[in-house]
Amino acid sequence: MARDRSVYRCQECGLAAPKPGTCPDCARVGTFVQLVEERAVPARGAPRGAGATSSRPQPLAEIRVEGDGHRTSSGMAELDRVLGGGLVTGSLVLIGGDPGIGKSTLLLQVSLLLGERAGPVLYVSGEESAGQVKLRADRLGAPPKGLYFVAETDLLAVLAHVEALKPRVLIVDSIQTVFLPGLESAPGSVSQVRECGARLMTLAKGHGIATFLVGHVTKEGAIAGPRVLEHLVDTVLYFEGERHHAYRVVRAVKNRFGSTNEIGVFEMGERGLTEVPNPSGFFLAERPKDAAGSVVVASLEGTRPLLVEIQALVTPAGFGTPRRTVLGADYNRVCLLLAVLEKRVGFPLQSQDAFVNVAGGARAAEPAADLGLVLAAASSYLDRPLRGDLVVVGEVGLAGEVRAVTGLDARLKEAAALGFTGAVVPQGSLPSRGGYALDVQGVGSVDEAVKVLLGP
Ligand code: TYD
Ligand code: MG
Repeated sequence: MARDRSVYRCQECGLAAPKPGTCPDCARVGTFVQLVEERAVPARGAPRGAGATSSRPQPLAEIRVEGDGHRTSSGMAELDRVLGGGLVTGSLVLIGGDPGIGKSTLLLQVSLLLGERAGPVLYVSGEESAGQVKLRADRLGAPPKGLYFVAETDLLAVLAHVEALKPRVLIVDSIQTVFLPGLESAPGSVSQVRECGARLMTLAKGHGIATFLVGHVTKEGAIAGPRVLEHLVDTVLYFEGERHHAYRVVRAVKNRFGSTNEIGVFEMGERGLTEVPNPSGFFLAERPKDAAGSVVVASLEGTRPLLVEIQALVTPAGFGTPRRTVLGADYNRVCLLLAVLEKRVGFPLQSQDAFVNVAGGARAAEPAADLGLVLAAASSYLDRPLRGDLVVVGEVGLAGEVRAVTGLDARLKEAAALGFTGAVVPQGSLPSRGGYALDVQGVGSVDEAVKVLLGP
C-alpha cells in the first residue's frame, strides 16, 4: 500500500512523477528522488480513506483562533513595517536575497533585540560556527540571556532542540543547509527544501513559534528549491540592495498578515544595519544643485512614498548604433521613453548615446517614474537644468501623453516634507482640492512638460 503512494520528484525542475526514469519535463536522466509522501510528511495531510474524516465544517463566525493576530515588535520599526505591524505568533517567514547581502546580519540583530524582550530565541545556523556568530554578535550588541545559538544542519536535531528549549522565535539560517536524514537527496535540493520547510511549518503552527527561514537566491532570482517554499510560508521577504552601496531594502512580496510591496530601508555600516526612517533624505543626500540631467521623482513603494534622483547623460554618439546604458531602471522602458522623446518632441536621439542612472543605488521601476526619466534625458540633451526644488511624477504613453498615477497625495506630502516647493504631475491626476504645501502644475503631454520646464 505504501508503495502505491510513492512519488518521485525531479531534482532539477521539481516535476513530480509516479515512477523514475527520464524526466518528461527537463529531459534529464537520473534526477529523480523518491519521496514517500505518507511517511516523510505526515504533517501535510496525506489523504485518508473515505469515512475517516476528523474535520468538521463550522460556521466561520464561530471559529476562534488562539493567539491570532498577536504581534510582537521585532524591535526594528522598518522590519515591523514590512511584516505588516510586527512578528505574528506562529508565522513562517522566508527571507531571501543574494549571498552576502546581509540576511544573517539582519536576523542576528533581530535575535539580539528579541532575545532581550521576547525570548527565548533560538538561532540555528548551518553556515557559520558558534565562534563566527559570537564574533559578529559582539560587534552588533551585547547578547542577551534569552538568545540561544546552535550550529546544526540535521533538522531532526533542530526539532529536538526546539522541543527542549521551547523558543518563541526560531531562526533557521539557511533552509538550504538543513536536511532530513530520511530523504536521500542532498541538502538544498528541491525535495529537502520542500520537506524541511513543511516540517518547520508544522512546528511553527503547532507550537506558536514565529519562524524565520533564510533562503539564498539563485542566479535566476528564484529562492532556491524553485519557489517551492513561497506558497508554503506565510510571508516572503526579499532583502535587496547593491553590494557596493550601503543601503538595503527589505521588500515583502507575499504576506498573509499584511500588505505586500511594503519596504523597510536599512543602511549597512560598521556595526551592522541601521534603520533609515527617512529614505528619501538618504537617497537625495548628495544631489548636485542645478545640474542638467538630474530630476527628482516622487515614487511609491507599496504605501510608502520615496523620492529618488534620476540622472541622465546624453552625449553625441560616435559611429554605429548609439549606446544605451541603464542602471536602476528598466532598460526597455528607457529605450521606449527615448523613442517617445525623439518622435513626439523631435529630439534627434538616434545620434546620441544615453546613460541613465538612479542615484544611490535606488530603483525607479514604477511607470510613474516615466516622466522623470524623459525629463532627465531632455534636460541633459539640452544641457539645461530643471528647477532644483521640483519633483516630477507621471506615466508616459507612446503617444507622448502623460497619464494619471495613483497615490498622488502621499507622493506630494513626502515631497513637501522634504522641502520641495514645486511638483509637476499628470493633468489627469491634478488634485481638485489643492491644499498642498507645494505649488502643483499639471501637464498633459511630454512635449508640454519639456516646453514648460526646459523652455522652448
Ligand atoms: P551577511 O549577513 O553574512 O550576509 P548573508 O547572510 O545575506 O549572506 O552579510 C555579510 C556582509 O555584510 C559582509 O560582506 C560584511 C557586511 N557587514 C558589514 O558591513 N557590517 C557589519 O557590521 C556586518 C555584521 C556585516
Ligand atoms: Mg548568511
